Amino acid sequence: MSHAATLPDPARRVWLTAACTAGGAGIVATSVPFVVSMAPSERARAFGAPVEVNVGPIKPGELQTVEWRGKPVWVLRRTTYMLESLRSHDDLLSDPRSGRLGQQPVYARNDLRSVKPDIAVLVAICTHLGCIPTFRPEPGAADIGASWPGGFYCPCHGSKFDLAGRVFKNVPAPSNLEVPPHHYSGESTLLIGAGPGA
Ligand code: FES
Repeated sequence: MSHAATLPDPARRVWLTAACTAGGAGIVATSVPFVVSMAPSERARAFGAPVEVNVGPIKPGELQTVEWRGKPVWVLRRTTYMLESLRSHDDLLSDPRSGRLGQQPVYARNDLRSVKPDIAVLVAICTHLGCIPTFRPEPGAADIGASWPGGFYCPCHGSKFDLAGRVFKNVPAPSNLEVPPHHYSGESTLLIGAGPGA
């Protein structure tokens, strides 16, 4: 089965593009590690088995992309500065308190939308029409705007999400990025696809 076989058409198209260009100057910046080969087996993964990620080597500010159920999932280790910035722009967001149910498990329905404060786990598919946003952590990026606190920018139609995946106001995307079920089976062992106690 293709990695993109389970995606809706727009997401499949962009995910395939990302897969084709990941080794060069593609959608994801070249400084961002792109991890597509993870345990368990391809077959088990196709049926939705949890994906194990060792978050230990991920440095503060670094983002890795892994695959779960044919979807790209970001694992971002947020810096102290990033965490503080997330507390300062609620007024710019459409759903700062994760009021829209279904976009995150109940245990990630908190200020940082995460299990561990510094580790964000987000499905990397725009909630507008399924493009893959780009990682734009630089505050005040000239091409996005002076009020930009850093986050994820969707190049297809300009939707913006902060570093917790919360959508900004006045963009096409209707909701926050999805937080997939996940938990930690050890200090640095992240399991994507199953919640605590699964
Ligand atoms: S698909 Fe992301 S803004 Fe339209």
